[in-house]
Amino acid sequence: MSQEDAELEARLEEQETFEPPESFVEQANVSDPGIYEEFEENWPECWERAAECLDWEEPYEEVLDESAAPTYRWFTDGKLNASYNCLDRHVEDGAKNRAAIKWEGELGETRTYTYGDLLTEVDEFAAALRDLGVEEDDVVTMYMPMIPELPIAMLACARIGAPHSVVFAGFSADALATRMNAADSEYLVTCDGYYRRGDALDHISKANEGLDDVDHETETVVVDRLGDDLEHSLAERQQGYGELIEEHAGETVEPVTRDAEDMLFLMYTSGTTGKPKGVKHTTGGYLSYAAWTSHSVLDLEPEDTYWCSADIGWITGHSYILYGPLSLGTTTVMYEGTPDYPDKDRFWEILEKNRVDVFYTAPTAIRAFMKWGTEYPERYDLSSLRLLGTVGEPINPRAWKWYYEHIGNEECPIVDTWWQTETGGHMITTLPGIAEMKPGSAGPGLPGIDATVVDTTGEEVDAGKAGYLTVQKPWPGMLRTLYRNDDRFVAEYWEEYSDPDADDWVYFPEDGAKIDDDGYITVLGRVDDVVNVSGHRLGTMEIESAAVGVEGVAEAAVVGGDHDIKGEAVYVYAIPEDGYEGGETLEEAVVDSIVDSIGPIAKPEEIIFTPELPKTRSGKIMRRLLEDIASGNELGTTSTLRNPEVVDEIQQQVQE
Ligand code: WTA
Repeated sequence: MSQEDAELEARLEEQETFEPPESFVEQANVSDPGIYEEFEENWPECWERAAECLDWEEPYEEVLDESAAPTYRWFTDGKLNASYNCLDRHVEDGAKNRAAIKWEGELGETRTYTYGDLLTEVDEFAAALRDLGVEEDDVVTMYMPMIPELPIAMLACARIGAPHSVVFAGFSADALATRMNAADSEYLVTCDGYYRRGDALDHISKANEGLDDVDHETETVVVDRLGDDLEHSLAERQQGYGELIEEHAGETVEPVTRDAEDMLFLMYTSGTTGKPKGVKHTTGGYLSYAAWTSHSVLDLEPEDTYWCSADIGWITGHSYILYGPLSLGTTTVMYEGTPDYPDKDRFWEILEKNRVDVFYTAPTAIRAFMKWGTEYPERYDLSSLRLLGTVGEPINPRAWKWYYEHIGNEECPIVDTWWQTETGGHMITTLPGIAEMKPGSAGPGLPGIDATVVDTTGEEVDAGKAGYLTVQKPWPGMLRTLYRNDDRFVAEYWEEYSDPDADDWVYFPEDGAKIDDDGYITVLGRVDDVVNVSGHRLGTMEIESAAVGVEGVAEAAVVGGDHDIKGEAVYVYAIPEDGYEGGETLEEAVVDSIVDSIGPIAKPEEIIFTPELPKTRSGKIMRRLLEDIASGNELGTTSTLRNPEVVDEIQQQVQE
C-alpha cells in the first residue's frame, strides 16, 4: 500500500460519519429534510406519494382502512395492473426503445430487451399461459435462475392476474414440491439448466424430481437455456417455452384489471417453525411501495442504468431488480453468474461496460471483494456510479468504508437498507440526498415508517441499549397475511407487542437492534431461529429436521456461527444414536440430507458430534451457548445447565 493510501485508510478508519456529497444532493430525487415531518403530520395520507408513482385505472377510495387490523387494506377499491405499470405506460410515453433489461450471461453473451421488446414477449407469454389454462388467481410457480425468461414470466402472470410464486433455483427438489403443494400451484415455469463457473448445470432433473412429489396434476413450461449443452426430453404435460412463444407470436393480452388488494405474488420464506411461510403481497400497496422506495432511496430515474446483484428468487430481486426499477421506467441490469467468473473482476467489468449509475449489493459480496483485493476494481472506470446500496445483513464499518472508498471513490453515498421479505421494500435507511451516514448503522426509519427499539415489555429502550426492533405503524408494502394461514400471520408478527384490546398493533420483525440519540438504528440480527448465510435467510428448524431425519442421528441442534465472508454459517451439533458412530459416514449422510431437503446454500460449515447437547434444567437446548461456541466467543456462565460438563467437550471438538 502506498503512503497516500495508508493515510487515507487511517483517516477513514477514524471517521464515524459521512455527509452525502453536494453533487449528489443537488440532483437527488428527495433532498428536502422536511419530508420526515411532512409524512408524520400527514399520516396516512402521506402515502399518496407512493401511489402517485403508479398509473391507476380507477382511483382508490381510502388510503388506509384499519378496520380489520392487523389485516390492513391500502388504497381501497383502487384498480390497476402491475404489468401495465411496468411496461405499457412507458411504451405509451415514448420509451419503447429504451432498454428495460440488460442481461449479462455468465459466458459473456448479452441480451437487451427494450421496453417495447419486453412488452411484446410478456404479451406472448401471457397468451401462452392463458392457453395452458392459467386463470386469474391461479398461482404459477417459477423455478428458474437469472435468465430473462424469469422476469418475463413474472410480468406475464401479473398481466393476467395470476400470482407468481418464485422458488430460488438453488433450492432443492423437495423445497420446490413443498411450495407447490402448499399453494396448490398447478403450473410451473422452469428451464433445462444454466451455467455456473462455465459448467452447464442440469436443472430440469431437479425440477422433475420435485414435480414427482407434487400431489396434484401440473403443467410445466421449460425454457431452453442450454441448447445442445444438455440432452433432455420433455415429459408429458411439459412444453417448450420457445415453441409457445412462436405459437403465440404477435398476440397481445389486455392487462387484467386488479383490485389494489389482489395478490400480486407469494414468496415463501423461513421462519421459526419448520414450515416455510407464504408471504402474500398485493398489487396496489406492494407495487407503489417498491416504486416509491426505488425513487426515494435508490434515487432511480428513467435515464438511469441500475444494477442490483441479488437473485430474483429472493425478495430483493422481486422489489429491486424487477418491480421497483421497471415501474419507474429505469434500465435494470441482470447478471446470470457468480462474481468470480471468469475472474474476480466480473462485477466491475459489468459496471464499467454498462455505465451503471446505481449499484445495490450485499455485505457478504463486499467482504469477498475486500479479501480479493483492490487490484480488481482498480482496473476499471467506475466513475459512472452515483449511489451505492447494501442489503441483507448488517454491514460492518470496515466493509462499508472499503465500499465507499474503492467502489464509490468517496463520491457516492451508501444506503444501508434494512428490510425483509415481509416488508416488501426498504424500511430503515438514510435517504441518500438528506442525511449523514454512519457506517454500521442503517439509519432512521424512512419517512412514514415508525421504527422503534423496545425491551421485552414493549417499552422503548434507552439510546445505545440493545432491544427488539418493532414497527409501530402500518405501511403500504407490508405483507397482508401468510397464505392460507391468517392465525400464523398474527402469531408470528403481531402477538408479541400488540395490545389487541386497545386495537394497538405493533409489527415485530424478529430482529434485535439498538437505537442512538439521533434515531439511527443499528440492526443486530435475528432473534428467532433464522440464520443469515450470505444474506440468505434459512430456518434452523428446517435444517434441524433434515439432520434428525438421517438414520443414526438421535438429536440435533442447528445454529448460526459467525463467519468472515458469509456473515453467518450453519453449524450442526448432533448426537449419534446408540450403535452409531459420529464419523465421516454419518457426517456425509447429514450433509446430503440437508442439501437434499433445502439446497447447497444450507450446507453446514461444520458438524459436531457430541454425546449430549447442553440443556437447561427444564430441558431446553441452550442454543445461545452453541452459537457462542461456533463463533469462538467467550462463554457466559454455564452454571444454569443441567449438564455443564458437555460444554468443554464440545468446545474442544469445534477447536480441533
Ligand atoms: C436481515 C432481505 C441488517 C434482517 C431484504 C432481516 C439486515 C432479514 C439488513 C430479512 C440490513 C436485511 N442490516 N440486517 N441492512 N437487511 N437484514 O426476508 O435480519 O431475506 O430480518 O429480506 O435480513 O431477510 P429477507
